[in-house]
Amino acid sequence: MTKIEKNLIMGIESSCDETAVAIVSDAGDILSNVILTQLDEHKPYGGVVPEIAARSHIDHLNGLIREAMNEAKVGFDDLSAIAVTSGPGLIGGVMVGLMTAKSIAFARKIPLISVNHLEGHALSIRLTEDVKFPYLLLLVSGGHCQLLVVKGVGDYQRLGTTIDDAAGEAFDKTAKILGLGYPGGPAVEKAALNGDPKRFKFPRPLKGKPGSNFSFSGLKTAVLRARDEVVEENGGHLTKQDVSDLAASFQQALTETILNRVQNGIKEYLDTYPDAEPVFVVAGGVAANSAIKEKLAELCKEYNLTVKAPPMKLCTDNGAMIAWAGVEKFKRNEFADFDIGAVARWPLDPDAPPAVGAGVKA
Ligand code: KG4
Ligand code: ZN
Repeated sequence: MTKIEKNLIMGIESSCDETAVAIVSDAGDILSNVILTQLDEHKPYGGVVPEIAARSHIDHLNGLIREAMNEAKVGFDDLSAIAVTSGPGLIGGVMVGLMTAKSIAFARKIPLISVNHLEGHALSIRLTEDVKFPYLLLLVSGGHCQLLVVKGVGDYQRLGTTIDDAAGEAFDKTAKILGLGYPGGPAVEKAALNGDPKRFKFPRPLKGKPGSNFSFSGLKTAVLRARDEVVEENGGHLTKQDVSDLAASFQQALTETILNRVQNGIKEYLDTYPDAEPVFVVAGGVAANSAIKEKLAELCKEYNLTVKAPPMKLCTDNGAMIAWAGVEKFKRNEFADFDIGAVARWPLDPDAPPAVGAGVKA
């Protein structure tokens, strides 16, 4: 085994359909970051099936832990702590990761660090870039769509959240409606490249309203209705061009909705924190969308904010972001007791007013 000078933290992620393990040093070196995506197991159902996800995490987690340690060339004795997602997420999967982490921590007598999955996304930019607190963050994933001021570790102000679907969920549902398969985001983005974004007049939910909350469910319903109309006009089918036009019109409507809501949030952020870092961070799976990122960059330029996003591999669910959130908490001596449980709902800003309809997505 190599001689380790720095503190090494193992991160375990199992809250959705990725089983992931990483080993990251307190200096920000990613020694390993292994991910197993359960795409094929959920594909036939057009979305993540919680029971299938939990069983798959059980089947694969131990092997991935071994793989992550082999790749990092370390043993259990080299670890300073073990960080794990203990919520929010699909509870069966979260329990698998949490129980495994507890067992390792107990057997090896190393501290356990409990990580909020959303905080993993929120802090991941600090793993790869020197971004100081506070900064403005748009967290857009399959399960969440929130605009937050990241004031510090464990210290968040939520400016807005979705009142119904998450942005990634809207992509996934639209893909299903258009027969593009799962996961929907990349497929819709690809189809939209050859489409006419002006062909269908889809709604921009909440556009022009005050505040930074988001809403996407009306958009999905509009796509469904438009698809049915086109199918009827065509005598029972959709052409490839129809699919591209529907995808492009959807993506444009969703992007404009996000931009409008974010613009309100930027103004509020700059008013409240005039001396803050002029940085706008986008994280979560939807941050992989180039069209959305490009438009956000244009908007942010108007307000002299620089857009930063973690590299693609750290945008979607991964173990390195959990290990890194673990590092941030390790440095603050924030360790968990062994009696902590898995939680399905765990808002980053517990003081934010409840968003009706958002459920676990808030
Ligand atoms: O962060 P993530 O891996 O998992 C959650 O915590 O939800 O995000 C996955 C979501 C899925 O809904 C997926 O369709 C979406 O991110 N996504 C995208 C793109 N790549 C992934 N959405 C739009 N455009 C993309 N290129
Ligand atoms: Zn996520």
